[in-house]
Amino acid sequence: MTENPTLTVRDNRTGEEYDLPITDGTISATDLGKVGKTEDAAGIAMYDPGFTNTASCRSSVTFIDGEEGILEYRGYPIEQLAESSTYLEVAYLLIHGELPTKDQHDQWVHEITFHTFVHENLKSLMQGFRYDAHPMGMLLSSVSALSTFYPEARAISDPDIRHEQIVRMIAKMPTLGAWSFRHAQGKPYVYPDNNLTYTENFLSMLFKMSEHNYEPDPRLAQALEVLFILHADHEQNCSTNAVRSIGSSQVDPYSAVSGGIAALYGPLHGGANEAVLRMLKRIGSKDKVPEFIEGVKNGDERLMGFGHRVYKNYDPRAKIIKKAADDVFEVTGINPLLKIAVELEKIALEDEYFVSRKLYPNVDFYSGLIYEALQFPPEMFTVLFAIPRTSGWLAQWAEMLGDGDQKIARPKQIYTGARGVDYVPMGDR
Ligand code: CMC
Repeated sequence: MTENPTLTVRDNRTGEEYDLPITDGTISATDLGKVGKTEDAAGIAMYDPGFTNTASCRSSVTFIDGEEGILEYRGYPIEQLAESSTYLEVAYLLIHGELPTKDQHDQWVHEITFHTFVHENLKSLMQGFRYDAHPMGMLLSSVSALSTFYPEARAISDPDIRHEQIVRMIAKMPTLGAWSFRHAQGKPYVYPDNNLTYTENFLSMLFKMSEHNYEPDPRLAQALEVLFILHADHEQNCSTNAVRSIGSSQVDPYSAVSGGIAALYGPLHGGANEAVLRMLKRIGSKDKVPEFIEGVKNGDERLMGFGHRVYKNYDPRAKIIKKAADDVFEVTGINPLLKIAVELEKIALEDEYFVSRKLYPNVDFYSGLIYEALQFPPEMFTVLFAIPRTSGWLAQWAEMLGDGDQKIARPKQIYTGARGVDYVPMGDR
């Protein structure tokens, strides 16, 4: 390998050759823009809808090797974090770049715990939603409304102010998420209990009724910790890209994160586990699985919860979730749809159609079953994704602000419309 690798591009229109430096396996789009550039004509640009082969940033937050099925946060394997860490410790790791010392950890947990309450006017705002409002719509509106409660958040170049908004957002997401859940059920909103851990407090705000001290089942709280850790970040996915793109205009972080929540709301991103559940219910019983698989192979169906743009191997999160599912079912009883899911997985992993296309279970294959066992309606599934992803969004947002290479996001287009058309008065059209 040469020390200064380059890519030679020959423009066959002119015969001219250009040596473009290769850095970290990429060429710069600006360098490419020099190819064929003249005083009258723009240079060559990339056409890449969906950014399938375009790096938009340098990042040291999350590493994924899709071929090998590896996921690491700040270099730490997801398996070790899920086994030994807590969600708040992982959030610290993502935001600060390293695991906290005991003192740093205690301080961080203290800060988050004491920012869990929200302004009463925000509660009134949430109560103004229709009785059947989608919880994800409520969450995204209330996070964006937070920007009006903390106007100082606009000072994004002040590190102390940035830190305070990061703490506030991680702290308040479970409160807003739980209240959007209670709202749909017509139940009173439950205030945070600062004697509980992050996930215990979330369970309390979701499920507490008249008991004086709500005591969440530690096995459920632990399963939520694991699910939250697994969902905390996933490098440059659709919602993270949205947060970075909106944040590149230097807007406050509440507005940027509410854009991320909006992106996550879509069925192609955060909504797949709901689709898995619907699919399993439609299949109905284990003996119908072979018939369903035939439908998938004929192109009539899609096996939801299988396949991934990046992972061409078992999604490492899916393995861990399967174990968390067993722990939850121990408390709640087995979800009858599990048998169908296990049979689907067994057949698909042996079938040539799925093997040759490298289609393996992804994180959503089992998560919907767990959420259902915990008595969440499908509309809540994406909220349960957005709460932990907030730490990842904020880590990526803060990284972007500190990256001197970043500019306001502004892609090019290939214009395909008409030009220079004369305006015709309405009566003459
Ligand atoms: N069932 C059946 N066939 C599939 C599936 C599937 N789930 N996924 C991909 N394929 C086939 C696809 O038809 C194509 O076959 P062919 O080459 O014969 O045309 C081939 O596999 C390649 O698929 P693709 O659509 O080019 O792959 P992609 O990278 O564009 O799509 C995906 C990735 C996740 C959108 C897709 O696999 C899919 O729709 N999966 C089901 C939905 C799902 O589970 N989504 C959750 C993803 S994980 C969420 C997260 O990480 O945030």
